Amino acid sequence: MTILDLHEKKQNGKKISMITCYDYTFAQILNSTDIDCLLVGDSLAMVMHGYPTTLNASIEMMVLHTAAVVKGAPQKLVVGDLPFLSYRKSLSENMSCVEQITKAGAQAVKLEGALGNIDFIKHCVDSGVPVMGHLGLTPQSIHQLGGFKVQGRDEKAKKLIFEHALQLQDAGCFSLVLECVPSDLAKQITQELNIPTIGIGAGVDCDGQVLVLQDMLGMNQGFSPKFLRKYFNGAEELKKAFNQYHHDVVNGQFPNQKESYS
Ligand code: KIV
Repeated sequence: MTILDLHEKKQNGKKISMITCYDYTFAQILNSTDIDCLLVGDSLAMVMHGYPTTLNASIEMMVLHTAAVVKGAPQKLVVGDLPFLSYRKSLSENMSCVEQITKAGAQAVKLEGALGNIDFIKHCVDSGVPVMGHLGLTPQSIHQLGGFKVQGRDEKAKKLIFEHALQLQDAGCFSLVLECVPSDLAKQITQELNIPTIGIGAGVDCDGQVLVLQDMLGMNQGFSPKFLRKYFNGAEELKKAFNQYHHDVVNGQFPNQKESYS
């Protein structure tokens, strides 16, 4: 899967599936599924490292997790997030982060927002690195936004997100994530842009969808936003398996003879 395949999907009206992935074991499983694209999201700071926001993701974390995912899923398009502030420094510092993520094996990088990022995006694209944009609820700006809230609700905010989407396309982004925006805005942007939009909490009209793996597997029990569909009761099923193992151990039922060496 390449960025050209994603463009072809949009042209042919075929939907794109993307899912976050942060580790080798899940990457191996995903590699043998129909999922199109894996995102090593900076959400790993929350999901894998227990931080309250994505702001604690570091370039070292992103590189380590990206390398693990790429090893497990060689057939997938892997996009690596540029972490908070890593692309808001000097051009050479920004490019050093891009270099580290791509040398870890990601085929593309993702960054949040348009303001102040346009020249950097053009430089990445001119240097041969595909860039995925991200608008709407941009979690790296959580303190500026005042919380995890739907964005683009009023006309002025809608117009701004729409303009930023056009700017990101013009700068050379190959695709755009739209997070937590009203469906009508996502539809308008999707119809206007030539590049595929990937939605999360952005309605059905986006060219594709992305979900956080642990959320869609129901492993994050306390997290149930309106947009999330849980495809597995992960937390309950895993707890059952762990408790069964505990029960078997304490009752002397594990291991049995077949599971022991003579
Ligand atoms: O970091 C992440 O997981 C993301 C997705 C929610 C799009 O950016």
